[in-house]
Amino acid sequence: MTQPQMKVLLESDWAAGSLVDDVRRGLSQHPRTLPPRWLYDDHGSALFDEITRLPEYYPFLAERSILEQHAAEIVTASGATTLVELGSGTSEKTRLLLDAFTAEGQLTRFAPVDVSEGTLREAADQIAAAYPGLEVVGVVGDFTLHLAHLPKGGRRMVAFLGGTIGNLYLEERKAFLGALADLLEPGDSLLLGTDLVKSADRLVAAYDDSAGVTEAFIRNSLTVVNRELGADFDQASFSYVPFWDPHMERIDMRLRSEVPQRVTIPGADVVLDLAVGEELRMEISTKFRVSRIAAELEAAGLAVARVWTDDPGDFALTLAVKG
Ligand code: SAH
Ligand code: AVI
Repeated sequence: MTQPQMKVLLESDWAAGSLVDDVRRGLSQHPRTLPPRWLYDDHGSALFDEITRLPEYYPFLAERSILEQHAAEIVTASGATTLVELGSGTSEKTRLLLDAFTAEGQLTRFAPVDVSEGTLREAADQIAAAYPGLEVVGVVGDFTLHLAHLPKGGRRMVAFLGGTIGNLYLEERKAFLGALADLLEPGDSLLLGTDLVKSADRLVAAYDDSAGVTEAFIRNSLTVVNRELGADFDQASFSYVPFWDPHMERIDMRLRSEVPQRVTIPGADVVLDLAVGEELRMEISTKFRVSRIAAELEAAGLAVARVWTDDPGDFALTLAVKG
């Protein structure tokens, strides 16, 4: 088998260095916040994989059903010879695109990009073995920082699946889409997966599953800060509080301090005094309407070419082209 190439753009001390900045900045905000990339150490990536198999977590199956029905059309419409995938994780659903590209015989290169190095290496190895002849270039990088280092040349389609764009705040989405649009060449495209607004009951169930896997996933950020920065967050003194924010149209996942407590984070030189009931916002998951997706893409300079939804209308895949 051809071994995948790996480009490592994150410094070996990235977890510690960049986490220090995020802890200092984020945990002094109101509400105190941590960026979601810290959810995905090896354990967090494994928990996310488990989430995708929960009965309540409909986004994974919804997006997969769109790909099952429409991968061939997507591939033809993109005309791509390189597929870049941001936040690729295991790239499990992406195989539906790779199969369609293989049937067309047009794809020469696949470049998955993820901060979670172990998961990315495993996925890249498996894809290189399953698609002989395809050049696989894994990029260990941060899609909010390293877009300029993505592989260049050929007609590119950038896939950003799973609804991960919804984990970014509005200003971050603007910056991300603007930066991506700036470095795409005319004819290159973005295939964007977005979860759609639906009943609050279904949304909350998807992020507060009965097996407690999502809670464990969200709590894992505290474990990462304890491990990387020598902090003393005590999981037992926090409860998991996910809720639907109808004004912002997003699920907001928080950990609430159940006691007044002092948390020390020596590696960041931070001491947190938390009152009873004070909350740390660990992740948001924004849900979209098709009109809003188009508006955000077009504001960034990307023209919507096609939108596909699953039959119940739970999830959308949008193909947008750089003009
Ligand atoms: N695309 C997959 C995985 C989604 S989970 C799917 O649709 O199922 C989100 C993925 O994004 C994880 O693999 C996580 O490690 C990665 N990720 C999160 N923040 C990131 C960042 N800033 N840069 C690169 N990858 C990131
Ligand atoms: C990766 N991302 C799209 C997931 C989501 O649904 O927002 C992350 C997640 N958080 C809790 N459950 C799943």
